[in-house]
Amino acid sequence: MTLTPTRPTLSTAAPVDQSEGLIPAGADPRLVAWVDSIAGLTSPDSVVWCDGSAAEYDRLTHEMVESGTLIRLNPEHRPYSFLARSDGSDVARVEARTFICSEHEDDAGPTNNWREPAEMRVTLGELFAGSMRGRTMYVIPFSMGPLGSPFSKLGVQVTDSPYVVASMSIMTRMGTDALRLITADTEWVPAVHSVGAPLLDGAKDVPWPCNPTKYISHFPETREIWSFGSAYGGNALLAKKSFALRIASVMARDEGWLAEHMLILKVTNPRGRVFHVVAAFPSACGKTNLAMLRPSIPGWTVETIGDDIAWLKPGQDGRLRAINPEAGFFGVAPGTGPSTNATAVETLWGNTIFTNVALRDDGDVWWEGLSDRAPDHLVDWEGRDWTPDSGSPAAHPNSRFTVAAAQCPTIADEWDDPNGVVIDAIIFGGRRASNVPLVVEARNWEHGVFVGATISSERTAAAEGTVGELRRDPFAMMPFCGYNMADHWSHWLSIGRRLGTVGAAPRIFQVNWFRKDDDGSFLWPGFAENARVLEWILERVDGRAHGVDTPLGWKPADDGLDLDGIEVTARQRERLFEVDPEAWLAELESTEAFFAGFGDRLPAELGTQLADIRRRLKLSIEN
Ligand code: GTP
Ligand code: SPV
Ligand code: MN
Repeated sequence: MTLTPTRPTLSTAAPVDQSEGLIPAGADPRLVAWVDSIAGLTSPDSVVWCDGSAAEYDRLTHEMVESGTLIRLNPEHRPYSFLARSDGSDVARVEARTFICSEHEDDAGPTNNWREPAEMRVTLGELFAGSMRGRTMYVIPFSMGPLGSPFSKLGVQVTDSPYVVASMSIMTRMGTDALRLITADTEWVPAVHSVGAPLLDGAKDVPWPCNPTKYISHFPETREIWSFGSAYGGNALLAKKSFALRIASVMARDEGWLAEHMLILKVTNPRGRVFHVVAAFPSACGKTNLAMLRPSIPGWTVETIGDDIAWLKPGQDGRLRAINPEAGFFGVAPGTGPSTNATAVETLWGNTIFTNVALRDDGDVWWEGLSDRAPDHLVDWEGRDWTPDSGSPAAHPNSRFTVAAAQCPTIADEWDDPNGVVIDAIIFGGRRASNVPLVVEARNWEHGVFVGATISSERTAAAEGTVGELRRDPFAMMPFCGYNMADHWSHWLSIGRRLGTVGAAPRIFQVNWFRKDDDGSFLWPGFAENARVLEWILERVDGRAHGVDTPLGWKPADDGLDLDGIEVTARQRERLFEVDPEAWLAELESTEAFFAGFGDRLPAELGTQLADIRRRLKLSIEN
């Protein structure tokens, strides 16, 4: 670890006494010194080192119920579960306030907000000075990935939010065991978090303290995270997007692996062959759904390994292997119901923290999509009385559940295998009402990288912005890549060359569950029926399914996709796979302009791919 080179010295408060007994025995002296320096800067009333025990979780949640931050749900319906209501201004990731502070602007690239690191350190120094006054600062040592796995990385988050501590204890391997792995010569990522709401002169606290000024800052060269002003999701649970994607993507670039916004699943076909698949979809575009898929077709089994982040590395055998670095799910609640994701509904039986969902009169929770009919009366996510006539959603569209992965009934035995699982197929997808077919296979790795680089998707409620607006989201990593996106593409190409030498690279596919008919309805039933697409993908991998060439890649033959028992007409099928050359040529114009924004950082292979697809489209018009 590199310590902050220019430690801000703006705090005027006396250093906090971390009285001897409270620092865990054996804690690395460098870590203790760092904690001391952050306490000196932020001036909390006390410092608590978290051990990750059940007793600690119980104590924290009890305190938060007392303070009004959490509502304990009715244990008859939802044992050991809580509801948190956030401040109305703090409901999603804030991409406009997320910064990559690399030494050179070009290393952040045109898709990131860049700030000069020294300037950002001054800004942060001022904001964090005294920012924890009147509060407790918690120290959270954690491991991303199974403790001691060759894939895993260590971090330490300090935070003044007990809600963040409780969430981190579900989402990561946190506490004493992780602390023990931090020694004088281990690398660990420091992550500093403050809600930015000091309690001055004994002022009364609010249930969800936060600050209108927000900075989610990353220093890729020194591998540090500083987050100020928000307690919500990826803004505050710094192990997740800030570490496991933004900082880890930089580590991965330097060390020859990949940190990606991907689910991981295990699929067993009717012949008993086991496959592992990763899929990158933008935020709130169906990763959790696919990770927990219940196949509608007989003989196939799907098990869950991860729902949001994958760390992938070529193994000794030259095959690409993956782990889920997280230990829990922070999933979108609305739209999660018995018909869309029964597995998630079962996972959430208890031991869950819900944020910004609605409260039922019987002390249980509800959100849009949990049942067809809404209850007659609810208290909505803002704490107001709600009825079906209220005209606004009862749960915030980005309301979420936080629950341990181990509680998922379809979790695969090998989900926490320290050596990861071998990946057979990579899927890229987005939310596209038009143009993008239901499924195609990329012609080769370079074409697959082009497919990943050109993902576009309609905006969702997972971040601030206009929902529905089409935007580019390359590799579903637009908000999460800690370095220049074009370098990320080059890195993917180099990983492909490494895998290609042994001929064992995973095959790459593109899917789109969201294509719409002229009347605005979805052309594809989706959800459990996505198993039919997985079937075609894995039969391709198994060398058993035919592919028909199109300008965009290989599609299933006319009888190649099993549509038995679902209502997809021949016309709808045709529309699902339609490639409109004019529309695609226009899309490629926009892609070319997007690529041009990366200047000479753009790998030549992507220009070649673009030219090749353009040539194929023009040919298809002539024929
Ligand atoms: P993050 O946690 O934000 O990274 O997102 P995620 O990709 O895990 O999102 P999630 O699985 O929670 O996506 C939920 C949204 O996708 C809901 O709006 C679902 O209705 C929608 N969705 C998922 N699968 C399908 C599908 O097969 N068809 C359709 N039409 N919608 C789907
Ligand atoms: C996403 O937005 O992609 C999420 C939720 O997975 S958050 O952790 O808030 O980033
Ligand atoms: Mn995500």
